[in-house]
Amino acid sequence: MTIRVTFRPDNFQPPVIQTPTPPNPVPGSSAAEGTGIGRVRKNNFVSAEKDKDKIAEILAELESYIGLETVKRFIKDLQAYVEIQKRRVQEKLISEPLVLHMIFRGNPGTGKTTVARLVGRLYKEMGVLPKGHVIECERADLVGEYIGHTAQKTRDQIKKALGGVLFIDEAYSLARGGEKDFGKEAIDALVKAMEDNKDNLVLILAGYRQEMDWFLQTNPGLRSRFPIHIDFPDYTLDELLSIGNLMFKTRQYELTKEAREALRNYLQALLHSHPYAGNARLVRNLVEKTVRKQAVRLFQKPSSSREELIKILPEDINTEAV
Ligand SMILES: Nc1ncnc2c1ncn2[C@@H]1O[C@H](COP(=O)(O)OP(=O)(O)O)[C@@H](O)[C@H]1O
Ligand SMILES: [Mg+2]
Repeated sequence: MTIRVTFRPDNFQPPVIQTPTPPNPVPGSSAAEGTGIGRVRKNNFVSAEKDKDKIAEILAELESYIGLETVKRFIKDLQAYVEIQKRRVQEKLISEPLVLHMIFRGNPGTGKTTVARLVGRLYKEMGVLPKGHVIECERADLVGEYIGHTAQKTRDQIKKALGGVLFIDEAYSLARGGEKDFGKEAIDALVKAMEDNKDNLVLILAGYRQEMDWFLQTNPGLRSRFPIHIDFPDYTLDELLSIGNLMFKTRQYELTKEAREALRNYLQALLHSHPYAGNARLVRNLVEKTVRKQAVRLFQKPSSSREELIKILPEDINTEAV
């Protein structure tokens, strides 16, 4: 038996629960085997406790991400909701299939891929997906060059994603070429896969906010299949700074006070000059270049102290284009 949840992302209403009579599981189906969406995978008390620990671990990791407050709240609410639905299933209360396909809207570098990976792991521990891995793809991985090629390529990606999440970046590009474009064939194959693998596949479509809105408008059939929409706003200067500091810290580097200042000045200038500046990937590139620049500086001396190896000086902050 499966559960249907309909989220209403537009007016921030709570999920709608529809509760028809639960059907009997078909023998051999994932429902009968106790896995899949809306299923309580493990009845064993010990393993249920272990799952809880892992879920708590994943939620703590989510908490450790900088900013993303609405995303965090939404994922936690979703986790609570799925958990309660599972308990309802256990009590043989009526429900419909849990529809967990998502749209992630936001600029590049706002954490969409990072959160998708975490959602996959969470779904696995919650017993919603058997594997929870994430297959990332984009138009070129799905759309072919001749008739029949697209269906094959899309099927290959779906096959890899079964049991987990198929994450399609810049998904709107599938509709870019209009009716005659092979992108349409990919969309049709994806819709079919969603129908065929209800308990075994979650799709996440990601892309720029406006483009995704346009994409869903032009595909009403698709829109109705994606009840969960999550917005990823650009990071603020302070958030970018915190992300940068965190990235240095996890790599076991420390910035001097002056280096922190240099980092702030650089990010501030970037925020005014770059089209998608609230972007954690730019920060990661900066961190990686800085680490290399520090290495070049230290390499000029025959040996370095532990402290020198850790310290980042202002001149290490690599302010060439990132
Ligand atoms: N909130 C955050 N806290 C810490 N690091 C982040 C955060 N958001 C993104 N990052 C880092 O920034 C980089 C780009 O993020 P990513 O998820 O690939 O963005 P997107 O998929 O939206 O382009 C990754 O290295 C990721 O670890
Ligand atoms: Mg990405």
